[in-house]
Amino acid sequence: MSNKALITGIGGQDGLFLSRILIEKGYEVHGITKSSDLGTLAHLEEDVRDKIELRVVNIAEKAPIDTLISEGQFDQVYHLAAQSSVARSINHPRETIESNVLGLTNIATSIRDKSPQTKLLFTGSSEMFGDLVDGQQSELTAPNPQSPYGLTKAFGFQLVNAYRKHYGLWAATAILFNHESEYRGEQFVTKKIIQSVVRIANGGDETLSLGNIHAQRDWGYAGDYMEGITQMMERESPDDYVFATGQLHSVKEFVEIAFNKVGIKLEWTGEGLAEEGRDTETQRTLVNIEKRFYRPGDIAGTCGDASKAREQLGWVPKTALDEFISKMIDHERANQSSKS
Ligand code: GDD
Repeated sequence: MSNKALITGIGGQDGLFLSRILIEKGYEVHGITKSSDLGTLAHLEEDVRDKIELRVVNIAEKAPIDTLISEGQFDQVYHLAAQSSVARSINHPRETIESNVLGLTNIATSIRDKSPQTKLLFTGSSEMFGDLVDGQQSELTAPNPQSPYGLTKAFGFQLVNAYRKHYGLWAATAILFNHESEYRGEQFVTKKIIQSVVRIANGGDETLSLGNIHAQRDWGYAGDYMEGITQMMERESPDDYVFATGQLHSVKEFVEIAFNKVGIKLEWTGEGLAEEGRDTETQRTLVNIEKRFYRPGDIAGTCGDASKAREQLGWVPKTALDEFISKMIDHERANQSSKS
């Protein structure tokens, strides 16, 4: 008999990788989305997608979640569903709380009351740590969130811990640092950069406008992180793990690498809002800074220590930054040429 897994938020970047991995491992995969739009799953191979049992459910409503969990009696629940944009959470805190706080509370409580043998994996975030104080952030770093989104992820981490401790559930948090891919949503900086770089390389006369390009992130490849969380789920006892590369890069470096890959070299002038990136050959301004893309409470830097995942799960990030930037560019080139 195959294992039965439920993926909430299956329609996002992570849902695509996770469903592919679980179907390959022989799992019976059920997924819930917030609308009938296939989202990222439209990119999934048809034979894989056909094997997924999809349903539209609002995770912020308790009754349909109760029914789903009670009827499903899943072996595993991967709770991915969330309002995942930090920037959006600043202007839409209520929507973020409904999705992230109520959503997780409904899922965890339904499992506790209707299907306590189900394993629950919550996808937490490095955003719950706030700014890097010194060194790297691990499972032992105290939460110190700086955004409504980060607060909801700190809440989730604590709730999962409490349910594990007090009700004996198999419940655990994967603390995911930034993870990108060709399927990333365009509200995130890496995808925004890649889309613009490819349009410019194709002759577009736009300027890429960004906010804080000096922010640093620990960027990994989403496919690797989803492999990691399935390994975590296969363990007999629940425990929390950080998934990260331990490598820090600034948004500015990401921009330079992406432009380099399409044969454009940038030179920088100015500071703050006057900082600009120019094409060294044509002297045209390709990157500028706009105040509206800055966020209050932006995290200056995050850097994760994934040594526990490496030692206990044998997990290592396989795809280097340079490699996945190339994947993102190739995918975007194909996407833009199919539209022209
Ligand atoms: N989105 C965006 N747009 N970010 C910009 C821009 C811009 O125009 N300009 C500069 N940035 C900076 C942000 O200020 C931030 O410091 C950094 O780029 C990364 O922003 P995002 O790509 O939006 O990601 P994030 O770090 O806030 O959050 C992501 O990673 C978390 C940790 O894994 C999201 O995926 C979260 O859901 C995730 O939990």
